[in-house]
Amino acid sequence: MARIPQPFIDELLARADIVEIIHARVPLKRAGHEFKACCPFHNEKTPSFYVSPQKQFYHCFGCGAHGTALGFLIEHDRLDFVEAVETLAASLGLDVPREGGATEEPGRRDEREALYRCLEDAAGWFKQQLRNHPPAIDYLKQRGLDGEIAARFGLGYAPAAWEALRKALEPRHGRQRLIEADLVVAREQRHYDRFRDRIIFPIRDPRGRVVAFGGRIIGDGTPKYLNSSETPVFHKGQALYGLYEARQSGASLDEMLIVEGYMDVIGLAQQGVHNAVATLGTATTREHVQRLYRSARRVVFCFDGDRAGRTAAWRALEQALPVLEDGREAAFLFLPEGQDPDSFVRSAGREAFLDACVQATPLSQLLLQELRRRHPGGDLESLAGLAHEGMTLIRDLRAGVLRSRIVEMLAREARMDPARLETSIARDETPTGTAATPATVRRPQGIDRRRTVRWSPLRAAIALLAEHPTLASEAPAADALGSPDNPGIALYAELLETLRAHPNITTAGILERWRGRKEELHLLRLIESRDVYLDADAARREFQDAVARLLAQRSAVRFEVLRRKALDEGLNPAEKAEFSQLALTGGRDTHD
Ligand code: UTP
Ligand code: MN
Repeated sequence: MARIPQPFIDELLARADIVEIIHARVPLKRAGHEFKACCPFHNEKTPSFYVSPQKQFYHCFGCGAHGTALGFLIEHDRLDFVEAVETLAASLGLDVPREGGATEEPGRRDEREALYRCLEDAAGWFKQQLRNHPPAIDYLKQRGLDGEIAARFGLGYAPAAWEALRKALEPRHGRQRLIEADLVVAREQRHYDRFRDRIIFPIRDPRGRVVAFGGRIIGDGTPKYLNSSETPVFHKGQALYGLYEARQSGASLDEMLIVEGYMDVIGLAQQGVHNAVATLGTATTREHVQRLYRSARRVVFCFDGDRAGRTAAWRALEQALPVLEDGREAAFLFLPEGQDPDSFVRSAGREAFLDACVQATPLSQLLLQELRRRHPGGDLESLAGLAHEGMTLIRDLRAGVLRSRIVEMLAREARMDPARLETSIARDETPTGTAATPATVRRPQGIDRRRTVRWSPLRAAIALLAEHPTLASEAPAADALGSPDNPGIALYAELLETLRAHPNITTAGILERWRGRKEELHLLRLIESRDVYLDADAARREFQDAVARLLAQRSAVRFEVLRRKALDEGLNPAEKAEFSQLALTGGRDTHD
């Protein structure tokens, strides 16, 4: 079989979201910055299986299973490498290129094609049923939709019978395929239609192929909507309802709106707003946003104005941030309580809706609003917390105008100098260059290549300590280096304590002590990612260098805090002494 080009695999890993991939198979719960679940690879009652969106890596602290999105598919779905690549590619809507030109294995492709044909036939059949069912047509009319828009979105109707679709399509497609397409549900010897007495919304992929359906109850009742489950051709974390139709409409897609429901997309289109798409009963994912920015310059996220809408908006903001770059804009439209885009555009009209989009809250503003809400008070502590959380959020944001604007905004809010803000945040996370240059960072096989460890002096110090436990004798105490609230400092402190209590411990021994803990993988990766194992002298020099940088950064931060306090409220004598000491030793300018 023809080889899959390596750059394609790199791109796949860069674009896939492991959380989405795993969550579709093993429901995950958020746990801080990570997600957790009971491990699918061994029996357990309490979760020790963690998935990190930052690292795009999963790890089970119980059985040690770990790997990337591809690794997970190989282990969990029992696929071979090529199949895993295909599955991942399919979830992103990509075709797998082959060196030498051959494409997908014919058998699998045929199966997929058969599934598409089945879904297409079903869509045609639902459409036919709508024509024969006046009450369903009346319902659509009553919701303000005309025949043309219904045709454009391929709307249909599933009759109120248990086996109507199955009987109509089984002769041509076979029962198994109908089940695979999630059109027929098999339960205890019975096989019945999934959608009954519902308006049907076919969901198309960007190429216009029907991949799934949504079904709305006519009038009131529960569940209001039913959606197809995931199938080999339908992946919710990636599908955007209405994208194909938006592209077909010929309208400019320079700006795209992202709304919550089928009816919002269609209701907007009915009023001449053709650039809306909806996620399908799931939160907005990074992949959704990325897909939109492929054609759009500006994305407007529409939400209800209530608390739930605010929460959803914040989640969308987190997904959008890493995808943003100069030339891309994101804004958030909060509709009046009780309104959704469909009802709003119907009652207020197209112009009012478009105006609202123009005036939507820019991402940077929402960011600040929400940070203020989370860090109220306005005292130095809260402001520093606000600035810190803000900087953490934009850590993945590419350097550029937007990033500088956000930094400036945070700095103004926290009454700090922007450059200083960047530096004080850099003490934990941002690469600072010399402690370990990127060239010395090994890229371990099988780990997402895009995400290597970002070296900071603190991280370098931790890794060096773990590799050369004897350095503990000359390591400064943790509180000289930073606040114990910083997880990196806490790890440093604990590591140092362990090394002092066990002078003969080895690196492996250290790792064993961390086995089963959340920091284990972190520690492991730090150690793994340093390719050169230095001799004792070189290690000592590097360690001293890292420590010196940490101390310098700490003084710079301390200097800044005191400088601001001096301006705001004045310093007490001890602080005054410390301040002039810092000024003398160059707390100001040490680290750049
Ligand atoms: P909404 O409840 O906001 O419905 O759900 P809507 O879009 O305003 O629909 P109408 O106007 O009452 O007809 C928004 C989206 O959430 C998903 C659907 O994708 C829906 O479009 N949803 C909602 C479900 O999947 N199941 C449900 O039971 C409800
Ligand atoms: Mn609605």
